[in-house]
Amino acid sequence: MARIGVLTGGGDSPGLNAVIRAIVRKGLNVHGHEFFGFTYGWAGVLSNEGIVLDHQSTRGILHRGGTILGTSRTNPFKQGGPGADGVRASLEARAIDILIPIGGEDTLGVANRLSEAGIPIVGVPKTIDNDLAGTDFTFGFQTAVQIATDAIDRLHTTAESHNRVIVVEVMGRHAGWIACYAGLAGGADVILVPERPFDIEEVCERVRNREQSGRTFSIVVVAEGATPKDGDVVSEHSGGATDAFGHERLGGIAVTLEREIEERTGFESRMTILGHVQRGGTPLAYDRVLGTRFGVAAADAADEGSFGQMVALRGTEIELVPLSDALAEPKLLDPRLFETAEVFFG
Ligand code: F6P
Repeated sequence: MARIGVLTGGGDSPGLNAVIRAIVRKGLNVHGHEFFGFTYGWAGVLSNEGIVLDHQSTRGILHRGGTILGTSRTNPFKQGGPGADGVRASLEARAIDILIPIGGEDTLGVANRLSEAGIPIVGVPKTIDNDLAGTDFTFGFQTAVQIATDAIDRLHTTAESHNRVIVVEVMGRHAGWIACYAGLAGGADVILVPERPFDIEEVCERVRNREQSGRTFSIVVVAEGATPKDGDVVSEHSGGATDAFGHERLGGIAVTLEREIEERTGFESRMTILGHVQRGGTPLAYDRVLGTRFGVAAADAADEGSFGQMVALRGTEIELVPLSDALAEPKLLDPRLFETAEVFFG
């Protein structure tokens, strides 16, 4: 019997509770381990706060968004932070043998450093952005895509009725997966992604082309991390703020696009920033199933002692991949998918 700590770090992602439930259900019922959930990511580890995870505390959470453990972007390795020694001290104080962090590049980056320092770790990948290498998909992505697609469908109606250009900003810091999937599904006329810096004149040209062929409205989908050619990420909202991992707070490229498109084309333009709406609410069935499969596999990996690895979806199978492989580079948008979307641009 082992004592296993669980935490959720970084942005919340629909399906997190499915993972927690699955880890605990498999680990308790089949392997006979005990579980403790640290609250608010690495913050809970450092302050040694949390809750016992058992049948009672993980009941009725499968369909709930967010995370019952809470989350944060706390970084134990930030300058002056307690580092691996601080984490080890907390784990010892609670007699935790193994840690299962559920998170994205930052949370798993910390996990990898702790693993290198000798702490037994099994990671679970999480991000709505779907930009973690080593896994074909992360849970939460499909839900975010559906929310964005529903929003595009609704905005289509207004764009069409008012003869407007509507710019829809979706999440996607390094990669345009949400923009491309939702743009494809929602019939976007232009999709702008971080992987392909855009030329504002080209965007306007597509909008003009549509007008000339009798279509009096356009939908432009833009990922928050998209940049103009020869430009930096335009963040209208951050005021220069960064998180504990040094990431700038994004949001607002759509504000610039709305203004530029209207000024350059003369067409009335509006923008909508979907923001955290994409991370909230009920997970789709796909994300509940993927989260559950990840959770069961993570409990098995912990039981077998497969440390320094994370669970991953490869094709249709759940496999284990070294944490270091997953963290080397972000998983950027498949160019073939973007080329498919481009077929339908204005
Ligand atoms: O990493 C997921 C993500 O949704 C990014 O797309 C976005 O830049 C970031 O989280 C925003 O997170 P928050 O506003 O919660 O700090």
